[in-house]
Amino acid sequence: MTAIPMTSFPCDPLKGVAEVPGDKSISHRSLILGAMAVGETRITGLLEGEDVLDTARAMRAFGAEVIDHGDGSWSVHGVGVGGFAEPDQVINCGNSGTGVRLIMGAMATCPITATFTGDASLNGRPMARVTDPLALFGTQAIGRDGGRLPMTIVGAHDPVPVRYEVPMPSAQVKSAVLLAGLNAPGKTVVIEREATRDHTERMLAGFGAEITVEDGESGRVITLTGRPELRPLDIAVPRDPSSAAFPVCAALLVPGSDVLVPGIGLNPTRAGLFTTLREMGADLTYENERTEGGEPVADLRARFSPDMVGIEVPPARAASMIDEYPVLSVVAAYATGVTMMAGVKELRVKESDRIAAMADGLRACGVSVEDGDDWWSVTGMGPGNVPGGATCASHLDHRIAMAFMILGMAAQKPVSLDDGSPIATSFPVFEPLMAGLGAQLRRNNR
Ligand code: S3P
Repeated sequence: MTAIPMTSFPCDPLKGVAEVPGDKSISHRSLILGAMAVGETRITGLLEGEDVLDTARAMRAFGAEVIDHGDGSWSVHGVGVGGFAEPDQVINCGNSGTGVRLIMGAMATCPITATFTGDASLNGRPMARVTDPLALFGTQAIGRDGGRLPMTIVGAHDPVPVRYEVPMPSAQVKSAVLLAGLNAPGKTVVIEREATRDHTERMLAGFGAEITVEDGESGRVITLTGRPELRPLDIAVPRDPSSAAFPVCAALLVPGSDVLVPGIGLNPTRAGLFTTLREMGADLTYENERTEGGEPVADLRARFSPDMVGIEVPPARAASMIDEYPVLSVVAAYATGVTMMAGVKELRVKESDRIAAMADGLRACGVSVEDGDDWWSVTGMGPGNVPGGATCASHLDHRIAMAFMILGMAAQKPVSLDDGSPIATSFPVFEPLMAGLGAQLRRNNR
């Protein structure tokens, strides 16, 4: 892909309504579970970012009929649990860890073989965290050194159910095991010490699987009965809180701003950033709180917040805001005092090493950052005091790219990015949406 160098200039107050796209996690799951159901699943509000489009292509390669009706409306004619066909080409999941890990799980207990690859970021990320539990079902994996893609998965011909305690807080690993458990006879049990996003559990129940969740001494115990017939579903994908984070944080930082971000899912396993911002003193309110499709939803209203202070973010909250630490570190740079973010080792194995990527760019822009293996801290400079003026590297990571563009909106000098093209993986309308609020983003080659 061609690099898109970009610059974010300091801007006037951000005003208006920011309608962010559909939730990435729920979009992937809608396509994958739709492909495993019998009949037609209809989806509205699907995120049409590169990551999800790669998953749509993959589901076609496994035999499902996936139709784009335009404007976020899609349908999937599924092949049923255990019904995946063997793909005749390599499955390219692009930049998406969620895509590749969930799809590996979904095909792992089918008697087929598939080879997976991705871009340079995805091919550097650890896959053993998924292939280790899949081996318990009888699945084989042959990949590169260190359990990296490209990798071939030989599905179990005679799968057995498993009991697995997930060793790291990861919804992708939990979900891969549950999706594999669908085609194993008997009960598959997954235990997670810390609660991670629970979309797979909620959606499996919606598709008619027998699944229970209990809070036990060792954590959340999820029990799934294998070989269900999944019923197709009509799914309205809620807007993504992880994408909402960008216009919300921009509004908190740019003097005079007042932005409404409507219809954001506030599932407690996803909403940790908003709680944290409010603890820091952000003027962030929830309006029109309601329940949609069984999920809490609200319109978020964010206004310029000059009095934010640094806090210690509770490590127990990390899983519920794991994708939001890059943009939180930007907010922390404009707060007063130190923001300490601990218990976040997982940030080192995301689309990039997100602690290193943000620390480098923030330091280049004049912000003091300290970091260790599983923690980092940002010393706030107060509103209006971040120098900016550097070119930051996005490291093929959409959230790093967008975080630095938010940094530039309130800095003393513009902030540039070596490559904004990764933004399209999760937030393809980021540039026009932010420009509509008043942000000054420019592609440098224009
Ligand atoms: C996701 C889980 C998280 C998150 C990712 C989406 C999901 O990854 O970072 O963006 O949809 O299950 P981990 O499972 O690696 O924490």
